[in-house]
Amino acid sequence: MPLVPMRILLDHAAENDYGVGAFNVNNMEQIQAIMIAAKETDSPVIVQASRGARSYSDDNYLRHLMIAASELNPNIPIAMHQDHGNSPATCISAVEMGFTSVMMDGSLEEDGKTPASWDYNVRVTQEVVKFAHARGVTVEAELGCLGGIEDGQGAGLSEEEAQNHLTDPTEAGDFVEQTNCDALAVAIGTSHGAYKFKKKPTGKVLRMDVIAEIHRRMPNCHMVMHGSSSVPKELIDIINQYGGEMPETYGVPISDIQEGIKHGVRKINVDTDNRLAITGAIRKVLSLEPGAFDPRDYLKPARLAMSKVVAARMVSFGQAGNAGKVEMKSLEEMKSYYLASV
Ligand code: G3H
Ligand code: 13P
Ligand code: ZN
Repeated sequence: MPLVPMRILLDHAAENDYGVGAFNVNNMEQIQAIMIAAKETDSPVIVQASRGARSYSDDNYLRHLMIAASELNPNIPIAMHQDHGNSPATCISAVEMGFTSVMMDGSLEEDGKTPASWDYNVRVTQEVVKFAHARGVTVEAELGCLGGIEDGQGAGLSEEEAQNHLTDPTEAGDFVEQTNCDALAVAIGTSHGAYKFKKKPTGKVLRMDVIAEIHRRMPNCHMVMHGSSSVPKELIDIINQYGGEMPETYGVPISDIQEGIKHGVRKINVDTDNRLAITGAIRKVLSLEPGAFDPRDYLKPARLAMSKVVAARMVSFGQAGNAGKVEMKSLEEMKSYYLASV
């Protein structure tokens, strides 16, 4: 089956009270790991690529790997999503490259660092929605800013500063109405990367109440949680056991994500946990077998380690068992749907 519009996965998740993990990829092994996990758990799939990933893979490698994934897994609906598009041009090029969903992250200016004004965010998001919906492609937008930084994208806010840039539930309805985005990324105190919280997060720093309030005001809004890696201690321990040096750190507990899913979270972004799994597995092989030099000797365990993390997330988020249940709609059908709804 061809790559599907992300919107149909989010709609099915909302109708059936579950969330869908969106996993970042840069190469073949990561795409394979996600597909192994999806097959094992019968899950619909969102694969996402950052600007950095697109440049690392020269775009075209990624495109053909995604086509391979869908050809090899004809019964699994797969959406291909641009993560953190920094400008309409980035999103347009993604659509032209065959992505079936894009994120216009207008919460930051085009430099990907400076928190943007409301007017700028609305303007660029509207521009992308117009272009993408005319082609049946889904659009995710963001209101409020996350902490941290990745891919040169991120205001670099500390855990404390991020609290001043949370999504304001009183503004969210207006933003979604003005932009007509399909999904809204919300800032609730998380950040990208491994160092989110210095201790196990409480409701004071991980503001799940913001999600509950947005859901109360807008029960039909599909929310997206970024920075949602759980940073399991077991994965950090493996890295450190085999020569790594990662300090103690805490991520987003799975139980909080599950609470979010009860309140309208439909897409959960996970990259760091998979990076940790891959790095730990590679370190382990190279440390136990210092003579190893065939990349397959460490890439196979790395792929397996990532697939285990992804499968566990698919089960925890509730998407497992749903691959065959999603009602298919093509980009053409979504195009007509958007046309009819304006
Ligand atoms: O956006 C968050 C992901 O972790 C992507 O990271 O920009 O380093 O590829 P990246
Ligand atoms: P993590 O760094 O927590 O995995 O977040 C990834 C993300 O939000 C990608 O957009
Ligand atoms: Zn993100």
